[in-house]
Amino acid sequence: MGQVFQNRSFLAEKDFTRAELEYLIDFSAHLKDLKKRGILHRYLEGKNIALLFEKTSTRTRAAFTVAAVDLGAHPEYLGANDIQLGKKESTEDTAKVLGRMFDGIEFRGFSQEMVEELAEYSGVPVWNGLTDAWHPTQMLADYLTVKENFGRLEGINLVYCGDGRNNVANSLLVTGAILGVNVRIFSPKELFPAQEVVELAEAFAKESGADILISDQAAEVIPGADVLYTDVWVSMGEEDKFKERVALLKPYQVNQDLVDLAGKEELIFLHCLPAFHDTNTVYGKDVAEKFGVEEMEVTDEVFRGPHARHFDQAENRMHTIKAVMAATLGNLFIPKV
Ligand code: CP
Ligand code: NVA
Repeated sequence: MGQVFQNRSFLAEKDFTRAELEYLIDFSAHLKDLKKRGILHRYLEGKNIALLFEKTSTRTRAAFTVAAVDLGAHPEYLGANDIQLGKKESTEDTAKVLGRMFDGIEFRGFSQEMVEELAEYSGVPVWNGLTDAWHPTQMLADYLTVKENFGRLEGINLVYCGDGRNNVANSLLVTGAILGVNVRIFSPKELFPAQEVVELAEAFAKESGADILISDQAAEVIPGADVLYTDVWVSMGEEDKFKERVALLKPYQVNQDLVDLAGKEELIFLHCLPAFHDTNTVYGKDVAEKFGVEEMEVTDEVFRGPHARHFDQAENRMHTIKAVMAATLGNLFIPKV
């Protein structure tokens, strides 16, 4: 034993058991505590980490960079326009080369197949920093934040509002189902999660006892919510869809009425970020001018209000990513989970 995580990739939540995900969340809380107390935890001293980004990022890039440095490793950022991947070199060849130089690889991009191919051919742990299908490192931060606020995960009612078929919605649904969290997706029928994602979540829910519900009716899913979660209406790579999404998703905005409908004082609001809660961004301004909508997935009132925990959640990206890298690459003694 002792090798439960060593050399494993972190590509999708479904590849990990409930106990393994719970371990990673709790280990993250431990690493967060060490960091706050100034206790060094340089489990990856001398290691080199490649950070591949086809899509842009603030949190994920920053989290991997700071976490790698805290662990004693060297992170190297390789952006889409910096390397040959895709244009002049196949994923397989790139993976084989990077695997000979780096000890671990983070990848953010479009296709889930690509991150899987990197893992298959590099021979080193590969960590999925977001694809069109899943956002697994985000989930550890999200459920750590839920646990910090409620002291538990089992039986918590989490409602995701908005685009129900994007990477974050898919991941929340499946991860919540594994962890025993009651996940509800509140979105228009046109944006319900794909049937195979729902079936996967339902199969996990049967084991954990989680209650999964997909609905376009606020009255069915919002009352009793402990967590209201939302994400952008238009994900990276879909920037031509603002017009249709604004029209479709306006009724699914997280605003004070929705918070009141949930009816719980202890309710927390989460958002993976970045968020469109005002017009202080290029897209936010553009959407306001074209469609007359000044706040998209969440109102400024809720975003800045007493229930908001998204900046804790953003900080937790770093502690959780650190846990994944340390557990899969640090030769830690983890006898049994
Ligand atoms: N939540 C998240 O993944 O943020 P970035 O796109 O800034 O990395
Ligand atoms: N669904 C969003 C998440 C960003 C962290 C996107 O893919 O753009």
